[in-house]
Amino acid sequence: MSKIKSVFQCQACGYSSPKWLGKCPDCGAWNSFTEERQDPKALKSANRMGTSTEIQPLSSISGGKDKRVHTGINELDRVLGGGLVDGAMVLIGGDPGIGKSTLILQALAKLAERTGKVLYVSGEESPEQIKLRAERLSINSDRIMLFPETVVENVIAAAADMKPAAIVIDSIQTVYTEELTSAPGSVGQIRESAAKLMFFAKKAAIPVFLIGHVTKEGAIAGPRVLEHLVDTVLYFEGDRGHTYRILRTVKNRFGSTNEIGVFQMSDDGLREVDNPSELFLSERPLHASGSTVIASIEGTRPLLVEVQALVSPTNFGMPRRTSMGVDFNRVNLLIAVLEKKAGMTLGGMDVFVNIVGGIKILEPAADLGVIAAIISSFREIPIDTKTLFFGEVGLSGEVRAVAQAETRLKEAAKIGFKKAVIPKNNADRLKDDLGLTIIGVKDVEDAIEQIRT
Ligand code: TYD
Ligand code: MG
Repeated sequence: MSKIKSVFQCQACGYSSPKWLGKCPDCGAWNSFTEERQDPKALKSANRMGTSTEIQPLSSISGGKDKRVHTGINELDRVLGGGLVDGAMVLIGGDPGIGKSTLILQALAKLAERTGKVLYVSGEESPEQIKLRAERLSINSDRIMLFPETVVENVIAAAADMKPAAIVIDSIQTVYTEELTSAPGSVGQIRESAAKLMFFAKKAAIPVFLIGHVTKEGAIAGPRVLEHLVDTVLYFEGDRGHTYRILRTVKNRFGSTNEIGVFQMSDDGLREVDNPSELFLSERPLHASGSTVIASIEGTRPLLVEVQALVSPTNFGMPRRTSMGVDFNRVNLLIAVLEKKAGMTLGGMDVFVNIVGGIKILEPAADLGVIAAIISSFREIPIDTKTLFFGEVGLSGEVRAVAQAETRLKEAAKIGFKKAVIPKNNADRLKDDLGLTIIGVKDVEDAIEQIRT
């Protein structure tokens, strides 16, 4: 067998060199070289997913059976798009210590109960360490097979032998292929190992979970380089200081994106949170200024969260603006709108905005709630605790309609809210009586009116 050679290739322009270079002599990019396998035959077969390579009409292809296996953890099934698909490759990324191994061990235990043997490949922890965690989670199964291995070829050979119902690689940064000389965890190794596993997953129709650490930049550790390769990308997020953990779909070939699953980390593992709105609102201060509730949509699920603002006079020259959980630039934009359109002088004020619970709200529907919280804190007027806000705010101070207003309002009514301040366009189009007093506002001034009373 001829030895498989590897080359270093510039990721920006494709220039290749037999050794690593810091700067590409062709396109001038810095630090762009990663090791690649140079084996045209193997590459060709790795890129070929199906067995047939003939051209065929779409109608002649028998419907891909979308048979899903439920993992037994509803919140995980939800982000997967309704269960695990055979041969799917799922990447779970997240900061070290956030709870990825815990989540996957709990999922494996449930999955093993329903399906049969599962393979847990760990390059990160010894079987004893995994046993300790399992004891903490009260998991003891003879169907979970532990395999402390880091060579990807050996993993695939063992899996082909054992034919497990699912495979977990914890983590992708620790496995490597012997065909490349670079260290485990480098971009070339991660990509090559994942490609081999992907090829195996598709051929054997076994779902594979890859666990990947993300660094702050998301670059060096590199699960980002896998995002285009795998079928589903989930990010496990949360604050170390909080017990909430959010599993978010970033990409899914078998379902919708932006879906979230909510968990709570406890002493004996992750617990599913069926009703996150109640949890996020459970510690709300009553009758305090600067706090209000917004109704947001994450995927298909409405989520009520508390937004807090603190407006206080600046001590040292430049006013400070801080935001957590909402986009910083968006908050600055809203402050500018309040200054210009509502005549509030925030120039000499520090403004802090926070979404409680360590959750991130990315959609602009949060705008009106952020504005309400800022006004409430600035004027020291508490907002009624049974009132909520949502709506997008434009640069001229207009309040724009948002999608799925009814879903948001229904969730609010369910939790016991009495009044909702929402965009006028949404209010005009509501059909059902939802048991809430609806106030439609067309601009920021209208909304401010609601906070005065
Ligand atoms: P872990 O799953 O090891 O994180 P990751 O694989 O993402 O690096 O979980 C790490 C943290 O979770 C650790 O700080 C301890 C905590 N933890 C609990 O609070 N309760 C538990 O039941 C378990 C197993 C872990
Ligand atoms: Mg781990």
